[in-house]
Amino acid sequence: MSLEERLVSDTIFVTRRIFDETLNYLAEHVVVEGNDTDRVLSSDELQAGAADAAGILSMVTDRIDSQLMDSCPNLKMVANFAVGFNNVDLDAASERGILVTNTPGVLTETTADFAWALLMAAARRIVEGDRLVRDGKFTAWGPRMLLGHDVHRKTLGLIGMGRIGQAVARRARGFDMDVIFYDPYPVPAEVVDKLGARSTPLEELYRTADFISVHVPLLPDTHHLLDDDAFAQIKPNAVVVNTSRGPVVDEQALVRALEAGTIAAAGIDVFEHEPQVEPGLLALDNVVLAPHIASGSHDTRLRMSMLASENLVCGLRGDRPPNLVNTEAWEQRKQ
Ligand code: 8YV
Repeated sequence: MSLEERLVSDTIFVTRRIFDETLNYLAEHVVVEGNDTDRVLSSDELQAGAADAAGILSMVTDRIDSQLMDSCPNLKMVANFAVGFNNVDLDAASERGILVTNTPGVLTETTADFAWALLMAAARRIVEGDRLVRDGKFTAWGPRMLLGHDVHRKTLGLIGMGRIGQAVARRARGFDMDVIFYDPYPVPAEVVDKLGARSTPLEELYRTADFISVHVPLLPDTHHLLDDDAFAQIKPNAVVVNTSRGPVVDEQALVRALEAGTIAAAGIDVFEHEPQVEPGLLALDNVVLAPHIASGSHDTRLRMSMLASENLVCGLRGDRPPNLVNTEAWEQRKQ
């Protein structure tokens, strides 16, 4: 069988309804099966659906664990439709020679736009204002009505200065902000200089930033990075934004901080036990909540699905996919 024939006979399983354009591209190269609805599949459904698949195009809502991998004997590749890949057991994949890819780069600017949208909405109380108007409570202009926090010329503290952190920092220049950041990994000096940013220890960032935006992956080290102790160090006028992963913030500690006024407000796109939300958050006015939509523009979601698909086709063809995450699996990959 030629390589092209072998590839064409490979079946891939797409776990959620995506875009026709992407499915058409995939269908030119592989046999496409999958879930054509917006419903998240249970692990049993995923196991049954992907049982014969050589590749899975997975979402952040799918748990791709060792059990699933063992129930898919033909599985060679998992292409995650996200830059984050904490939903995939990377070690289990590497042990089995299964390649895992993500979608970096294509969602950077869109996610940074949204972090700013949350920052501005929380600082200037846009959602509270919307609610007041809709509730028919805008009966007269008032000099002290819904006073918020200025953004311009304040200090923005970025936790994580990778692609998205840098894109958030670029936008801060238009607001004349001082930008400080904490990142345990080195950021090239020319990047830092160009952004006019300054690296600080985390404690200093907590003590000095008026706005804190989180852009780190979820790792054992970053789990509950923002906990009671962190909130106690953050300024009481500060606004905290999280568009990274929910468990980076201890959600109960966040509720306590918002309730007590330890911090002023928050903008939250990701939750610790998604899609469940800590009930305490729902009761608070000083938090703006969004359903994990930071990368959710038409263009970007299409780009993400195309990049995930290109990775999948490339890997199944036997070439090294451009966004391989578990590079250690390449040598042991299944042929
Ligand atoms: C997506 C994300 O909304 O890319 C990520 O890691 O969190 C978001 O861009 C989501 O994960 C899509 O599956």
